Amino acid sequence: MSLDNEYLKSLGSWFNSTVGFVIDTYHHLSKTQQIIVVVMVAVSALVLYLLYGIVKRKEKTAEVDVAVIGRIKNSIPYRKKIRTRSKLFENIIGHDNVKEILARSITRNLGIHWLLVGPPASARSMILMDIEDKVPGAIFVSGTRLNKEGLLELLRTQKPKFLLIDELDKCGPSTLNPLLTLCEHKRIVSTTKSDPFDIGLDTVILGTANYSDSLQSYFLSRFFVLHFPEYTEEEFLDICRVVLPKKERVGIRLAKYIGEKVWNDMENRDIRQAVRVAKLAKTKEDVDWTVEVLMKYGGG
Ligand SMILES: Nc1ncnc2c1ncn2[C@@H]1O[C@H](COP(=O)(O)OP(=O)(O)O)[C@@H](O)[C@H]1O
Ligand SMILES: [Mg+2]
Repeated sequence: MSLDNEYLKSLGSWFNSTVGFVIDTYHHLSKTQQIIVVVMVAVSALVLYLLYGIVKRKEKTAEVDVAVIGRIKNSIPYRKKIRTRSKLFENIIGHDNVKEILARSITRNLGIHWLLVGPPASARSMILMDIEDKVPGAIFVSGTRLNKEGLLELLRTQKPKFLLIDELDKCGPSTLNPLLTLCEHKRIVSTTKSDPFDIGLDTVILGTANYSDSLQSYFLSRFFVLHFPEYTEEEFLDICRVVLPKKERVGIRLAKYIGEKVWNDMENRDIRQAVRVAKLAKTKEDVDWTVEVLMKYGGG
Protein backbone atom coordinates (compact mmCIF):
# COMPACT_ATOMS: atom_id res chain seq x y z
CA MET A 1 0.00 0.00 0.00
CA SER A 2 2.74 2.42 1.02
CA LEU A 3 4.70 1.40 -2.06
CA ASP A 4 1.71 2.32 -4.23
CA ASN A 5 1.48 5.73 -2.55
CA GLU A 6 5.16 6.36 -3.16
CA TYR A 7 4.72 5.43 -6.80
CA LEU A 8 1.71 7.73 -7.24
CA LYS A 9 3.55 10.57 -5.52
CA SER A 10 6.57 10.25 -7.82
CA LEU A 11 4.31 9.97 -10.87
CA GLY A 12 2.49 13.16 -9.76
CA SER A 13 5.69 15.14 -9.27
CA TRP A 14 7.00 13.90 -12.67
CA PHE A 15 3.77 15.02 -14.34
CA ASN A 16 3.90 18.44 -12.60
CA SER A 17 7.50 19.02 -13.57
CA THR A 18 6.86 17.91 -17.21
CA VAL A 19 3.81 20.18 -17.54
CA GLY A 20 5.76 22.98 -15.85
CA PHE A 21 8.63 22.45 -18.28
CA VAL A 22 6.31 22.50 -21.31
CA ILE A 23 4.53 25.70 -20.12
CA ASP A 24 7.86 27.30 -19.29
CA THR A 25 9.30 26.45 -22.71
CA TYR A 26 6.15 27.72 -24.39
CA HIS A 27 6.42 31.08 -22.61
CA HIS A 28 10.01 31.45 -23.74
CA LEU A 29 9.03 31.07 -27.41
CA SER A 30 8.47 34.07 -29.67
CA LYS A 31 4.85 34.94 -30.66
CA THR A 32 5.26 33.36 -34.12
CA GLN A 33 6.71 30.16 -32.65
CA GLN A 34 3.81 29.98 -30.19
CA ILE A 35 1.31 30.26 -33.04
CA ILE A 36 3.14 27.51 -34.99
CA VAL A 37 3.05 25.18 -31.97
CA VAL A 38 -0.68 25.78 -31.41
CA VAL A 39 -1.45 25.13 -35.10
CA MET A 40 0.65 21.93 -35.11
CA VAL A 41 -1.10 20.60 -32.01
CA ALA A 42 -4.52 21.41 -33.50
CA VAL A 43 -3.67 19.73 -36.83
CA SER A 44 -2.32 16.61 -35.07
CA ALA A 45 -5.50 16.38 -32.99
CA LEU A 46 -7.64 16.71 -36.11
CA VAL A 47 -5.67 13.99 -37.95
CA LEU A 48 -5.98 11.63 -34.99
CA TYR A 49 -9.70 12.33 -34.78
CA LEU A 50 -10.17 11.58 -38.51
CA LEU A 51 -8.14 8.35 -38.29
CA TYR A 52 -10.21 7.24 -35.32
CA GLY A 53 -13.39 7.93 -37.32
CA ILE A 54 -12.16 5.84 -40.28
CA VAL A 55 -11.23 2.88 -38.08
CA LYS A 56 -14.59 3.02 -36.31
CA ARG A 57 -16.50 3.16 -39.60
CA LYS A 58 -14.60 0.12 -40.94
CA GLU A 59 -15.49 -1.85 -37.83
CA LYS A 60 -19.14 -0.89 -38.23
CA THR A 61 -19.20 -1.90 -41.93
CA ALA A 62 -17.75 -5.32 -41.13
CA GLU A 63 -20.49 -5.83 -38.55
CA VAL A 64 -23.20 -4.83 -41.05
CA ASP A 65 -21.81 -7.30 -43.62
CA VAL A 66 -22.32 -10.21 -41.33
CA ALA A 67 -25.68 -8.99 -40.15
CA VAL A 68 -27.25 -8.49 -43.57
CA ILE A 69 -26.17 -11.62 -45.41
CA GLY A 70 -29.32 -12.83 -47.13
CA ARG A 71 -30.72 -9.43 -48.06
CA ILE A 72 -30.17 -7.93 -51.48
CA LYS A 73 -30.53 -4.27 -50.67
CA ASN A 74 -27.69 -4.21 -48.14
CA SER A 75 -25.16 -6.04 -50.21
CA ILE A 76 -21.58 -6.27 -49.00
CA PRO A 77 -20.29 -2.69 -49.25
CA TYR A 78 -16.66 -3.25 -50.13
CA ARG A 79 -17.47 -5.26 -53.27
CA LYS A 80 -18.35 -3.00 -56.16
CA LYS A 81 -22.11 -3.30 -56.59
CA ILE A 82 -23.85 -3.50 -59.96
CA ARG A 83 -26.48 -0.80 -60.28
CA THR A 84 -29.45 -1.99 -62.32
CA ARG A 85 -31.46 0.55 -64.33
CA SER A 86 -34.61 -0.51 -62.49
CA LYS A 87 -35.69 -3.38 -60.25
CA LEU A 88 -34.93 -6.75 -61.78
CA PHE A 89 -37.62 -9.26 -62.78
CA GLU A 90 -40.65 -7.09 -61.94
CA ASN A 91 -42.64 -8.42 -64.90
CA ILE A 92 -42.00 -12.06 -64.15
CA ILE A 93 -44.71 -13.74 -62.15
CA GLY A 94 -43.75 -16.26 -59.47
CA HIS A 95 -40.31 -17.93 -59.48
CA ASP A 96 -39.68 -15.85 -56.35
CA ASN A 97 -36.65 -17.73 -55.04
CA VAL A 98 -35.03 -17.89 -58.46
CA LYS A 99 -35.51 -14.15 -58.95
CA GLU A 100 -34.08 -13.44 -55.50
CA ILE A 101 -30.98 -15.60 -55.88
CA LEU A 102 -30.20 -14.30 -59.38
CA ALA A 103 -30.71 -10.67 -58.38
CA ARG A 104 -28.42 -11.22 -55.41
CA SER A 105 -25.72 -12.80 -57.56
CA ILE A 106 -25.92 -10.06 -60.21
CA THR A 107 -26.21 -6.95 -58.05
CA ARG A 108 -23.55 -8.13 -55.63
CA ASN A 109 -21.32 -8.88 -58.59
CA LEU A 110 -20.39 -12.31 -57.28
CA GLY A 111 -19.01 -13.67 -60.56
CA ILE A 112 -21.17 -16.81 -60.45
CA HIS A 113 -22.28 -18.40 -63.75
CA TRP A 114 -25.87 -19.68 -63.99
CA LEU A 115 -27.73 -22.11 -66.21
CA LEU A 116 -31.53 -22.01 -66.20
CA VAL A 117 -32.99 -25.35 -67.26
CA GLY A 118 -36.72 -25.86 -67.70
CA PRO A 119 -39.69 -26.72 -69.89
CA PRO A 120 -40.82 -24.40 -72.73
CA ALA A 121 -42.49 -21.14 -71.69
CA SER A 122 -41.17 -21.20 -68.15
CA ALA A 123 -39.88 -17.60 -68.41
CA ARG A 124 -36.17 -18.46 -68.83
CA SER A 125 -35.70 -16.21 -71.87
CA MET A 126 -37.75 -13.49 -70.16
CA ILE A 127 -35.28 -13.55 -67.29
CA LEU A 128 -32.29 -13.14 -69.61
CA MET A 129 -34.00 -10.34 -71.54
CA ASP A 130 -34.84 -8.51 -68.35
CA ILE A 131 -31.16 -8.66 -67.37
CA GLU A 132 -30.26 -7.39 -70.85
CA ASP A 133 -32.64 -4.44 -70.40
CA LYS A 134 -31.63 -3.46 -66.90
CA VAL A 135 -28.03 -4.44 -66.28
CA PRO A 136 -25.35 -2.25 -67.85
CA GLY A 137 -22.82 -4.28 -69.81
CA ALA A 138 -25.15 -7.24 -70.44
CA ILE A 139 -25.34 -8.71 -73.96
CA PHE A 140 -27.99 -11.21 -75.12
CA VAL A 141 -27.25 -13.77 -77.82
CA SER A 142 -29.06 -16.83 -79.09
CA GLY A 143 -27.21 -20.14 -78.93
CA THR A 144 -28.93 -21.24 -82.12
CA ARG A 145 -26.93 -18.67 -84.10
CA LEU A 146 -23.61 -18.84 -82.30
CA ASN A 147 -20.34 -20.40 -83.41
CA LYS A 148 -16.93 -20.47 -81.76
CA GLU A 149 -15.39 -17.69 -83.88
CA GLY A 150 -18.42 -15.45 -83.40
CA LEU A 151 -18.38 -16.04 -79.66
CA LEU A 152 -14.66 -15.23 -79.35
CA GLU A 153 -15.05 -12.13 -81.49
CA LEU A 154 -17.98 -10.91 -79.42
CA LEU A 155 -16.10 -11.45 -76.16
CA ARG A 156 -12.95 -9.83 -77.45
CA THR A 157 -14.50 -6.76 -79.01
CA GLN A 158 -17.44 -6.07 -76.68
CA LYS A 159 -16.03 -7.39 -73.38
CA PRO A 160 -19.51 -7.90 -71.87
CA LYS A 161 -19.88 -7.85 -68.10
CA PHE A 162 -22.69 -10.40 -68.49
CA LEU A 163 -23.08 -12.66 -71.50
CA LEU A 164 -26.63 -14.02 -71.75
CA ILE A 165 -26.80 -17.10 -73.98
CA ASP A 166 -30.38 -18.17 -74.69
CA GLU A 167 -30.79 -21.80 -75.79
CA LEU A 168 -27.22 -22.54 -74.81
CA ASP A 169 -27.83 -26.27 -75.26
CA LYS A 170 -28.30 -25.67 -79.00
CA CYS A 171 -24.60 -24.74 -79.37
CA GLY A 172 -22.19 -27.53 -80.16
CA PRO A 173 -19.52 -28.40 -77.55
CA SER A 174 -16.77 -26.83 -79.69
CA THR A 175 -18.67 -23.52 -79.69
CA LEU A 176 -18.78 -23.58 -75.93
CA ASN A 177 -15.10 -24.49 -75.45
CA PRO A 178 -13.85 -20.89 -75.02
CA LEU A 179 -16.25 -20.56 -72.09
CA LEU A 180 -14.35 -23.24 -70.15
CA THR A 181 -11.26 -21.03 -69.81
CA LEU A 182 -13.36 -17.92 -69.41
CA CYS A 183 -15.39 -19.33 -66.50
CA GLU A 184 -12.41 -20.92 -64.78
CA HIS A 185 -9.52 -18.53 -65.40
CA LYS A 186 -11.19 -15.31 -66.61
CA ARG A 187 -9.32 -15.47 -69.92
CA ILE A 188 -10.15 -15.97 -73.57
CA VAL A 189 -7.53 -17.63 -75.68
CA SER A 190 -7.32 -18.06 -79.45
CA THR A 191 -4.49 -20.02 -80.99
CA THR A 192 -5.25 -19.43 -84.65
CA LYS A 193 -2.13 -18.64 -86.70
CA SER A 194 -3.60 -15.54 -88.29
CA ASP A 195 -4.93 -13.92 -85.13
CA PRO A 196 -3.68 -15.40 -81.85
CA PHE A 197 -4.65 -13.68 -78.60
CA ASP A 198 -4.87 -14.27 -74.88
CA ILE A 199 -6.98 -11.69 -73.06
CA GLY A 200 -8.08 -11.42 -69.43
CA LEU A 201 -11.86 -11.02 -69.18
CA ASP A 202 -14.23 -10.94 -66.22
CA THR A 203 -17.44 -11.95 -67.98
CA VAL A 204 -20.28 -13.72 -66.18
CA ILE A 205 -22.32 -16.23 -68.20
CA LEU A 206 -26.03 -16.82 -67.78
CA GLY A 207 -27.57 -19.38 -70.10
CA THR A 208 -30.83 -21.20 -70.68
CA ALA A 209 -31.44 -24.77 -71.80
CA ASN A 210 -34.35 -27.18 -72.11
CA TYR A 211 -32.22 -30.03 -70.85
CA SER A 212 -28.83 -30.19 -69.23
CA ASP A 213 -28.17 -33.82 -70.31
CA SER A 214 -26.65 -32.76 -73.61
CA LEU A 215 -24.04 -30.60 -71.87
CA GLN A 216 -20.75 -32.05 -70.68
CA SER A 217 -20.24 -32.49 -66.94
CA TYR A 218 -17.01 -30.46 -67.02
CA PHE A 219 -18.99 -27.62 -68.58
CA LEU A 220 -21.85 -27.87 -66.08
CA SER A 221 -19.42 -27.93 -63.15
CA ARG A 222 -18.62 -24.27 -63.83
CA PHE A 223 -22.27 -23.26 -63.38
CA PHE A 224 -24.98 -23.20 -60.78
CA VAL A 225 -27.79 -25.08 -62.53
CA LEU A 226 -31.36 -24.11 -61.64
CA HIS A 227 -34.08 -26.55 -62.72
CA PHE A 228 -37.45 -24.87 -63.24
CA PRO A 229 -40.33 -27.24 -62.47
CA GLU A 230 -43.50 -27.22 -64.60
CA TYR A 231 -46.03 -24.64 -63.44
CA THR A 232 -48.77 -25.82 -61.15
CA GLU A 233 -52.35 -25.16 -62.29
CA GLU A 234 -52.60 -22.20 -59.91
CA GLU A 235 -49.38 -20.64 -61.23
CA PHE A 236 -50.45 -21.27 -64.83
CA LEU A 237 -53.78 -19.49 -64.30
CA ASP A 238 -52.12 -16.61 -62.42
CA ILE A 239 -49.77 -16.07 -65.36
CA CYS A 240 -52.65 -16.28 -67.89
CA ARG A 241 -54.62 -13.68 -65.90
CA VAL A 242 -51.74 -11.20 -66.26
CA VAL A 243 -50.18 -12.09 -69.61
CA LEU A 244 -53.28 -12.54 -71.82
CA PRO A 245 -54.85 -9.13 -71.02
CA LYS A 246 -51.47 -7.48 -71.55
CA LYS A 247 -50.61 -9.24 -74.80
CA GLU A 248 -54.01 -9.89 -76.38
CA ARG A 249 -56.27 -7.33 -74.69
CA VAL A 250 -58.77 -9.88 -73.38
CA GLY A 251 -60.49 -9.26 -70.04
CA ILE A 252 -59.18 -10.92 -66.90
CA ARG A 253 -62.19 -13.27 -66.64
CA LEU A 254 -61.82 -14.45 -70.23
CA ALA A 255 -58.07 -14.84 -69.66
CA LYS A 256 -58.75 -17.14 -66.73
CA TYR A 257 -61.33 -19.07 -68.78
CA ILE A 258 -58.83 -19.58 -71.60
CA GLY A 259 -56.22 -20.70 -69.09
CA GLU A 260 -58.62 -23.27 -67.64
CA LYS A 261 -59.60 -24.60 -71.07
CA VAL A 262 -55.96 -24.95 -72.13
CA TRP A 263 -54.94 -26.58 -68.85
CA ASN A 264 -57.95 -28.90 -68.40
CA ASP A 265 -59.38 -29.64 -71.85
CA MET A 266 -56.23 -29.45 -73.94
CA GLU A 267 -54.01 -30.71 -71.10
CA ASN A 268 -51.38 -28.30 -72.33
CA ARG A 269 -48.98 -26.56 -69.90
CA ASP A 270 -47.55 -24.00 -72.32
CA ILE A 271 -48.47 -20.33 -71.73
CA ARG A 272 -47.80 -19.68 -75.42
CA GLN A 273 -50.72 -22.00 -76.28
CA ALA A 274 -53.03 -19.87 -74.13
CA VAL A 275 -51.71 -16.69 -75.79
CA ARG A 276 -52.48 -18.13 -79.23
CA VAL A 277 -56.03 -19.06 -78.20
CA ALA A 278 -56.50 -15.52 -76.85
CA LYS A 279 -55.36 -14.16 -80.22
CA LEU A 280 -58.14 -16.10 -81.99
CA ALA A 281 -60.99 -15.89 -79.50
CA LYS A 282 -62.48 -12.86 -77.79
CA THR A 283 -65.63 -14.40 -76.22
CA LYS A 284 -66.28 -17.56 -74.19
CA GLU A 285 -68.15 -19.13 -77.13
CA ASP A 286 -65.24 -18.32 -79.40
CA VAL A 287 -62.87 -19.94 -76.92
CA ASP A 288 -65.00 -23.12 -76.72
CA TRP A 289 -65.18 -23.38 -80.49
CA THR A 290 -61.45 -22.63 -81.00
CA VAL A 291 -60.39 -25.16 -78.40
CA GLU A 292 -62.73 -27.77 -79.91
CA VAL A 293 -61.25 -27.29 -83.38
CA LEU A 294 -57.68 -27.33 -82.09
CA MET A 295 -58.32 -30.51 -80.14
CA LYS A 296 -59.90 -32.22 -83.09
CA TYR A 297 -57.24 -31.27 -85.61
CA GLY A 298 -54.24 -30.06 -83.65
CA GLY A 299 -53.86 -32.90 -81.21
CA GLY A 300 -54.05 -30.57 -78.17
N1 LIG B 1 -43.54 -16.48 -64.93
C1 LIG B 1 -43.97 -15.79 -65.99
N2 LIG B 1 -44.29 -14.49 -65.84
C2 LIG B 1 -44.73 -13.80 -66.91
N3 LIG B 1 -44.87 -14.29 -68.13
C3 LIG B 1 -44.56 -15.58 -68.32
C4 LIG B 1 -44.10 -16.39 -67.26
N4 LIG B 1 -43.86 -17.63 -67.74
C5 LIG B 1 -44.16 -17.61 -69.03
N5 LIG B 1 -44.59 -16.39 -69.41
C6 LIG B 1 -45.07 -16.03 -70.76
O1 LIG B 1 -44.61 -17.07 -71.63
C7 LIG B 1 -43.85 -16.52 -72.70
C8 LIG B 1 -42.68 -17.41 -72.95
O2 LIG B 1 -41.70 -17.18 -71.96
P1 LIG B 1 -40.15 -17.44 -72.26
O3 LIG B 1 -39.38 -16.69 -71.28
O4 LIG B 1 -39.90 -17.16 -73.69
O5 LIG B 1 -40.07 -18.98 -71.97
P2 LIG B 1 -38.84 -19.97 -72.11
O6 LIG B 1 -37.65 -19.22 -72.56
O7 LIG B 1 -38.71 -20.57 -70.75
O8 LIG B 1 -39.26 -20.99 -73.12
C9 LIG B 1 -43.47 -15.13 -72.28
O9 LIG B 1 -43.42 -14.28 -73.37
C10 LIG B 1 -44.54 -14.74 -71.31
O10 LIG B 1 -45.59 -14.15 -72.03
MG1 LIG C 1 -36.70 -19.38 -74.44
